[in-house]
Amino acid sequence: MNARIAVLPGDGIGPEVTDAAERVLRAVAEIFGHRWTLSAHPIGGAALRRGLPALPGKTCDAARSADAVLLGAVGDPAFDDRPLHQRPEHALLALRRALGVFANLRPARVWPGLEACGPLKPEILRGTDLIIVRELLGGLYYGEPRGTDADGSAAFNTLRYSRSEIARVARVAFRLAASRRGRVVSVDKANVLEVSRLWRDELTAIAREYPHVSLSHEYVDSTAMKLALMPASFDVLVMENMFGDILSDEAGAIAGSLGLLPSASLGDGPGLFEPVHGSAPALAGQGVANPVGAIGSVAMLLEHGLGLHEEARAIVAGLERTLQAGFRTPDIASGAARAVSTTAFTDAVVETIRVAGRKTACPVS
Ligand code: NAD
Ligand code: IPM
Ligand code: MN
Repeated sequence: MNARIAVLPGDGIGPEVTDAAERVLRAVAEIFGHRWTLSAHPIGGAALRRGLPALPGKTCDAARSADAVLLGAVGDPAFDDRPLHQRPEHALLALRRALGVFANLRPARVWPGLEACGPLKPEILRGTDLIIVRELLGGLYYGEPRGTDADGSAAFNTLRYSRSEIARVARVAFRLAASRRGRVVSVDKANVLEVSRLWRDELTAIAREYPHVSLSHEYVDSTAMKLALMPASFDVLVMENMFGDILSDEAGAIAGSLGLLPSASLGDGPGLFEPVHGSAPALAGQGVANPVGAIGSVAMLLEHGLGLHEEARAIVAGLERTLQAGFRTPDIASGAARAVSTTAFTDAVVETIRVAGRKTACPVS
């Protein structure tokens, strides 16, 4: 396959984990005989520092005309005092809108060997394999009107969803659940918010199209608690934008580190693939960032963006074997485990994928 992949490394640890992700992409191309055309473009603080807008027009055009987009992270404390639309984060919101990616898939699982590295007891964590489907283009993030009163005494945002916005992300969640354990939990705050009443009503209507998938409704506060108490009870969770932002970071903590979580943002055009974590400025430049989320995002890019299932499985297997062999970045190196750098961890993943690729190509007679 020939595919054009726009690479947007961004800020902080973004370039470090993107570099790891690119190395894995290249290895997969060699092993499976694909050709990628990778082109790098500035976004976020990296663009602002060059005197460009946070989302330069050329970056946006390159993303829209690519087959898939791989992003690191945006966010730079140097721009924290700027108005919202001049901050690095604004670039990400504008890019998501430009690409029309309304469904954000954020899987969280216990990786083999990492059962004890997070805050939860291994017996509670065991079997955790959930996926948050976060609505990505609506809700408070984009709702109008928004602003600050002229005298600065008050500020306001708008939470608004249409039935069609709810229905399209609901269908993504039901389809995913149908390919997994067949259970959708829809997360809302229907005991308080009109938007959540509409959300619940629409989810219930769409559920009738998927008779083999079960639907239950949960309040967001209770879900936050249950995620920590019984994470293994969940299959697919679907929710509005802000709830999904918050609960997916909780899912990262449950899995052992936010650095482990990949994501795929899907719409009708090219998908956007990025780790769930941010630019982690305190870790930048030290070579300690966990690249699993970024490398996992490459697996999601191949799977959901390019339809290359075997290649995606090869990456996930490479990550599993690397972790099983004891390689750990500092964020997941609990107890006696020796921590390795981002680069050393990635070397091990690439080597593991290559070895498995050679075995497949030349079976031992
Ligand atoms: P963060 O995700 O950058 O970091 C949160 C915590 O997780 C920190 O303790 C960090 O050290 C740790 N962490 C995150 N990724 C890690 C990795 N790969 N390996 C090891 N540890 C990791 O969130 P934050 O500190 O709240 O935000 C920092 C900046 O990133 C802000 O400017 C924020 O707006 C931005 N941000 C961007 C994105 C994105 O680009 N998608 C996501 C979240 C936050
Ligand atoms: C995420 C981030 C972004 C979001 C920010 C950086 C705009 O936190 O991808 O989870 O809130 O969506
Ligand atoms: Mn977030």
